[in-house]
Amino acid sequence: MEATHGINRIGVMTSGGDAPGMNAIIRAVVRTACANKIEVKGIKRGYEGLLSGDIIDMNARSVSEIIQRGGTMLLTARSTDMMTPEGQEKAANICRFLGLDALVVAGGDGSTRGALALSRLGVNTVCIPATIDLDLPCSDYTIGFDSAVNTAMEAITKIRDTSSSHERCSVVEVMGRDSGYLALWCAMTGGAEDVLLPELSTSEDEVIRRIIENRARGKRHNLVVVAEGMFRAVALAKKIQDMTGIETRPSILGYLQRGGAPSALDRVHASMMGYEAVKLIMEKQFNKVVIFKDGAYSHMDIEEGLKAEHKFNDTMYHIARMLAI
Ligand code: F6P
Repeated sequence: MEATHGINRIGVMTSGGDAPGMNAIIRAVVRTACANKIEVKGIKRGYEGLLSGDIIDMNARSVSEIIQRGGTMLLTARSTDMMTPEGQEKAANICRFLGLDALVVAGGDGSTRGALALSRLGVNTVCIPATIDLDLPCSDYTIGFDSAVNTAMEAITKIRDTSSSHERCSVVEVMGRDSGYLALWCAMTGGAEDVLLPELSTSEDEVIRRIIENRARGKRHNLVVVAEGMFRAVALAKKIQDMTGIETRPSILGYLQRGGAPSALDRVHASMMGYEAVKLIMEKQFNKVVIFKDGAYSHMDIEEGLKAEHKFNDTMYHIARMLAI
């Protein structure tokens, strides 16, 4: 294929908390670039690796056998240096020194902010939303979310067995930072009686009242999913037990939600978004974030993307609770 796009070399990195599907993004970026005769530098440990010069040459074979793997072959980190003007200036200089025509950054909110800082310093960047939190409101999907929901659902299904055998109340804490989507999907798929989300301010007393009501309706066990940004499972379980006398156990799913093989949905979105990112670069559309909106892949300016408002639709919340009546 004749290279008419004028792009010679790009960099790719994964940054922030890892998410299942990051490897599929790397594979798609590298292979789309290779198919279009573009050289690829793999930057290890996100911005940390960029700042310390931990960079590898990549080709189509470097990304063999990774589409099915969790984690990220390029490793990842949360860089505090990249939050400082000095760190950002240094990172931009390194991108120039490396001769990168553009840099692809796969990560969440903080990683996208890092890319925006670089773009303001003249580095061409394209971002791919990748976080289990689904908290980049500019996109209807962020890579890793579906896999994390499936992993948590499996765990919750197991907790449900023991909870019902003992007629207990189980409080399950899931990740999501300040976003409740992961918790909401876990509650819906796990058939939880209640779910506590940062977007809705349910009080502890209200949760307890609902548990008592559930028991009065004949339910012999309760499953309450809690978003980490709302309550802590251990404290809430103690309060429920103290106030109701119902044996209550907390479970914190923690980092298992970030691991494991990516789901089919994550592999598809990651492959498509990785391809879209390189396509944007070849079209010289820089400083963009690839998004999935209203059923189609598209893009926005990073700055606009980061400004998008988190509009929480509570319909699914009410349905999930009604279905657990
Ligand atoms: O952003 C992904 C996430 O897993 C959040 O859900 C969680 O709050 C956070 O990362 C944990 O971060 P760390 O890996 O730095 O402990």
